[in-house]
Amino acid sequence: MAEPLKVVVTGAAGQIAYSLLFSVAKGDVFGPDQPLELLLLDITPMMEVLNGVVMELMDCAIPLVKNIVATDDPKVAFKDADAAFMVGAMPRKEGMERKDLLKANVRIFKAQGQAADQVAKKSIKIIVVGNPANTNACIMSKYAPSIPKANFTCMTRLDQNRAQAQIASKLGVSNGDVTNVIIWGNHSSTQFPDVAHASVNINGKKVTVPEAVKNDNYLKNEFIKTVQQRGAAVIKARKLSSAMSAAKAACDHMHDWFFGTKGNDFVSMGVISDGSYGIREGLMYSYPVRIKNKTWSIVQGLDINQFAREKMDATAAELTEELEAALAECEA
Ligand code: NAI
Repeated sequence: MAEPLKVVVTGAAGQIAYSLLFSVAKGDVFGPDQPLELLLLDITPMMEVLNGVVMELMDCAIPLVKNIVATDDPKVAFKDADAAFMVGAMPRKEGMERKDLLKANVRIFKAQGQAADQVAKKSIKIIVVGNPANTNACIMSKYAPSIPKANFTCMTRLDQNRAQAQIASKLGVSNGDVTNVIIWGNHSSTQFPDVAHASVNINGKKVTVPEAVKNDNYLKNEFIKTVQQRGAAVIKARKLSSAMSAAKAACDHMHDWFFGTKGNDFVSMGVISDGSYGIREGLMYSYPVRIKNKTWSIVQGLDINQFAREKMDATAAELTEELEAALAECEA
């Protein structure tokens, strides 16, 4: 059997981690034959809760899980780590200003970036889920200069899955029949869910989503708004934020990173921009990517019309402003 893969989950006592850990542990992400060591990080006041999670993980008696470490020390968690799900972040509390929230998260992702830089494997693959996910991932990468920038990503897969599910439901097809939906930009309400390049399989025939939906007005308005505001709609209904679907999306993202995308299909991930599609270099921006041999590359050459251009630029502008504010905090 292979050596255990060392997998870090931060925010391990929280609600996303509660779903995520079970899926990771039973092999949904790294495969049914890959033994695992789970490295669980949370803050000191949550250690008792985390201990409860460890007890439950033990009680699942999953053969793939060879060892579980629960800690409040990032250097212990990241030691020789192969993959990391960065779920823990400072939540916005009542009366908290955006600037204070950003400051708190800069502090967290700086410390965790430094720890990863010092003790993780250089090949570690990192997905940032904790919000603001794009900017947190950028900050983490800044403080881990010995780890390639391509190893830092942030999650927009939940938005992609939401968009895919909306289209499938609209057309009365199964989720698996809808492919190549794109999320551009920020994991926030300025994100641009784009189906101009997406396809759907209807009765064995592949057609573009705009051809199948035949309702440009819906695709340009209601569809985009529904996806952008889906997180808020879940909170309103459940009185808690999306956890099961966020965990599933994090698994999808990491699974595809390790096992690759199928054929010509692509998925969306926040990655450090190389300037593709006119987006400022260095921004952590969600793009369509193909993955081969655990290496992602941005899908090139897609036609961008005026409508898309404006939406892509608007979400980039929000990210630029947020990153600049975060970088100012780094210097402060
Ligand atoms: P939660 O509040 O249930 O859990 C967060 C956990 O992170 C807590 O146990 C907390 O103690 C821990 N934490 C805080 N600071 C930490 C630090 N410095 N090191 C390690 N752990 C730390 O929140 P939930 O629902 O699990 O969400 C986690 C994050 O994911 C939030 O920031 C949320 O906004 C974000 N999120 C992102 C999504 C995306 O699509 N990118 C979707 C849904 C949620």
